[in-house]
Amino acid sequence: MTDSLTFPTSLVDIAGIAVADLAREFGTPTFVYDAAMIRRRLADLAAFDHVRYAQKACSNLAVLDLLRRGGALVDTVSAFEVRRALAAGYPPDGTPPPIVYTADIFDAESLRLVVERGIHANCGSPDMIDQYGRLAPNREITLRINPGFGHGHSRKTNTGGEHSKHGIWHAQLGDCLARASRYGLRVTGLHMHIGSGADLAHLALVSGAMEKAALEAGPGIGSISAGGGLPTPYRDGETCVDVDAYFALWDAARKRLEDALAHKVSLEVEPGRYLVAESGYLVTELRAIKQQGGNRFYLVDAGFNNLARPILYGAYHPMAIVPADGDCSRPEDDVIVGGPLCESGDIFTQEEGGSVAARRLPRAAVGELLVIGCAGAYGSVMGSNYNSKPMAAEVLVADGRARQIRRRQTFDELVAGESIPD
Ligand code: LLP
Repeated sequence: MTDSLTFPTSLVDIAGIAVADLAREFGTPTFVYDAAMIRRRLADLAAFDHVRYAQKACSNLAVLDLLRRGGALVDTVSAFEVRRALAAGYPPDGTPPPIVYTADIFDAESLRLVVERGIHANCGSPDMIDQYGRLAPNREITLRINPGFGHGHSRKTNTGGEHSKHGIWHAQLGDCLARASRYGLRVTGLHMHIGSGADLAHLALVSGAMEKAALEAGPGIGSISAGGGLPTPYRDGETCVDVDAYFALWDAARKRLEDALAHKVSLEVEPGRYLVAESGYLVTELRAIKQQGGNRFYLVDAGFNNLARPILYGAYHPMAIVPADGDCSRPEDDVIVGGPLCESGDIFTQEEGGSVAARRLPRAAVGELLVIGCAGAYGSVMGSNYNSKPMAAEVLVADGRARQIRRRQTFDELVAGESIPD
């Protein structure tokens, strides 16, 4: 599957529903997810024995439920992500483990929950092995290994190599196996995740590193996980990664391991972005147009409190105007698209390092809608209440129906945990 992205600069509907109707019913800013796209991306990965959804990309309960019903397992990185998985109907334990906790630390709450509920632990540091082993000896664990190299769409999303805090350093595998056995913990699998938005050339190196590590760990290894990181298209014309080629690489490594270990080895993949990025649209309203010297600014009602990827990584997201009159052939202008926040970096069209970039968009008027595309992964989940902006609403379009899956946060909810001492 190597679809290339086509994102028009004028958009009338999302998954068959008029954007204007979505905005009228749910307000703006609102994240809208297309369930069919999520199902399609899950189906692309069917060759793997297990697809484990990295819910950090978009952890709304309805999205978790959709993926659970589609057969995906789930990855968690915090106590509350574990609780989300449970709330979405995942059972705490089973074979393969429906929920895995993958992290580099346990905080007190996650350790308690994982131990008490029998959630599978994938340990990313030697200390995690000790802390878990003391409380839950003789269980099965897996180890997340840092293979000594990594790659991501940004330095901030590279999770391998010696500059990364992630995973157990590959040379410490032997020490960690010995540590685990001191508590009677059985290491039944290995996991590697080298970064998010990595390219296929780097991802391809991981299967070789995995093979080496699994041979070192020996016959106890019954499962390997390729981690996540599969890139998705953000710019027009960019293609999806060739998942069949990716699977073939891993399958070959798995088969060699099966021969060497003389037993079956299951193969898992753990994507976040791949499953949900393209499904998501952030629907905003254009609230002001300003000419600042030579630059024309479109200011919309969503900011980096809703979608932080541009300010964090200089990430590019496709954008479209929703012409109120349905005219999709308006003249185009170079504009800079920003939000309402009281901070200069609140610009959606910026490059890494913060320099603003112009985007060519059809001419629009205040009151019209502007849609930011490919916003399903690391959009809503990285939202904040900066400037006391409420968390946006979320809507899922499935089978021709749009349903709200998170209501816009209210003022009372925003200040619910706060109090003024007397
Ligand atoms: N597994 C592990 C252990 C991870 O740390 C991650 C992502 C994934 C899987 C899923 O990676 P994906 O398939 O989504 O690339 N906020 C950044 C991405 C941070 C990714 C963190 N870990 C962004 O907006 O690009």
